[in-house]
Amino acid sequence: MIPRIFPSRLWSVRLRVYSSASTVSDFALPRSSKSNTATSAPLVTPRQLKHHLDQYVIGQDKSKKILSVAVYNHYLRIQHAIRNSIEEEDADAIEHQVLTDFPGQVGGTSGEFEDYRPGVSVVEPQSPIFEKSNVLLMGPTGTGKTLLAKTLAKVLNVPFSISDCTPLTQAGYVGEDAEICVHRLLQSCDWDVRGAEYGIIVLDECDKLARKPDNGASGKDVSGEGVQQALLKILEGTTLQIADKTHKNERPRVNIPSSPGPPPATRGDIHIIDTSNILFILSGAFIDLDKIVKQRLQKSTIGFNSGSSLFFSHASSSSSKPIPTQSSPPSEWLHYVEPVDIIQYGYIPELVGRIPIIAPLNDLTLHDLIRILSEPRNAIIKQYENLFELNNVEIKFTSSAIHQIATLAKKNATGARGLRRIMENVLEDAMFETPGSSVRYCLITGDVVRGEKKAIYFSRGQQHKFYGVIAIDEELFKEGKDPGKDGGLASAR
Ligand SMILES: Nc1ncnc2c1ncn2[C@@H]1O[C@H](COP(=O)(O)OP(=O)(O)O)[C@@H](O)[C@H]1O
Ligand SMILES: [Mg+2]
Repeated sequence: MIPRIFPSRLWSVRLRVYSSASTVSDFALPRSSKSNTATSAPLVTPRQLKHHLDQYVIGQDKSKKILSVAVYNHYLRIQHAIRNSIEEEDADAIEHQVLTDFPGQVGGTSGEFEDYRPGVSVVEPQSPIFEKSNVLLMGPTGTGKTLLAKTLAKVLNVPFSISDCTPLTQAGYVGEDAEICVHRLLQSCDWDVRGAEYGIIVLDECDKLARKPDNGASGKDVSGEGVQQALLKILEGTTLQIADKTHKNERPRVNIPSSPGPPPATRGDIHIIDTSNILFILSGAFIDLDKIVKQRLQKSTIGFNSGSSLFFSHASSSSSKPIPTQSSPPSEWLHYVEPVDIIQYGYIPELVGRIPIIAPLNDLTLHDLIRILSEPRNAIIKQYENLFELNNVEIKFTSSAIHQIATLAKKNATGARGLRRIMENVLEDAMFETPGSSVRYCLITGDVVRGEKKAIYFSRGQQHKFYGVIAIDEELFKEGKDPGKDGGLASAR
């Protein structure tokens, strides 16, 4: 369902584009403008969107592509809807003009204006409306699912909210109602209902909603299936009444978004929002789902079930990748997930049917972890360098140090999550000792990360020496003489 009046304020879908000089500019806008030319402006392409994700999220190329295409198609579809609406509005305007210019003539008993009126008031959509395609991000912990969603929020200038599914419960039970995600979306755009109706809601940790096998004495699964049922309604498209409780004492007033007049956003109001055009991105680790997939695929090879499906648009149907082997990591099996697997995992079929796109994330390799430490715009190493700079200390991590930190994180098997904790451990002494001291340069090598040495300090006049030691360490690392290098690689791969 597409409302006839489009939001004017937030409803200019823009991407904030960060150039290398860190400036921000906006481009590619389908706007809610009266001008038809604005609506035919090109959308930012999936390639451009992925390029933005690349600046923050390392690896995960497949998920970044799928997500970029899904978001692009979502707004392409909306742009199409805007165009239709503007044509309708223009038609109404002409109709109104006719009524004003010739009162009493139109709809009267005679002649020419009666013939004219139907010609301008009926504007049929030219082509079928493309249905929205919600996305499911699925992959091991710490591999960038939440980061992908947050990064999207940063670059897209549309109403956007992220809600954790863990505290959700069925309405009437202790916990948060499923509707909280729509409430947050409205909050994110300062209660611009019309903007929110075309926004994006991320449901993080959605695997926690899987049906619980044991529902206790009551037999009701209020945090699993109960929430899924509630979310299903929102995903399918429903009309919700959401109260803005910011000013509880004010008497509530009902605002209907498609009614004419100024935009309804007064505090203390009840807002009526249609969820049909909100894009949902679900994300979860789905621990042990790989076992279900593995079982099905093994059965299918001995003829129980072909397991083939064109339902999901993801790797399983199109990839030339070989089927994983018994020893493949769990994330490899997630590339072959089918709806039946997710249903068996504990999802209700109707909800699975509303999420036609799966974006699988891979385990991070040692190389990915090394890149994560230093490449993203807000890379961890850059963050610590800035922190030390505030104390007037220049800190450097040699290649051997970075390699060693990534190796430790890889062994922890928590994706990139462990990186910050390892950095904190490594820098504990340096962060304690350098503030207020004569130290001006601090060096972290592989030995320091392994705890075999303390951080190496240099004072004001020792810059030359500082860079000399760095050069030697880099040389040794290149020659493969860093003791952590080979051992680390061998054990981490
Ligand atoms: N692919 C990645 N690229 C860059 N940083 C990452 C990546 N994956 C994880 N991280 C880092 O690890 C942290 C945790 O990742 P997150 O996206 O929350 O994991 P999850 O997949 O469990 O949602 C992020 O804040 C980020 O610093
Ligand atoms: Mg997460």
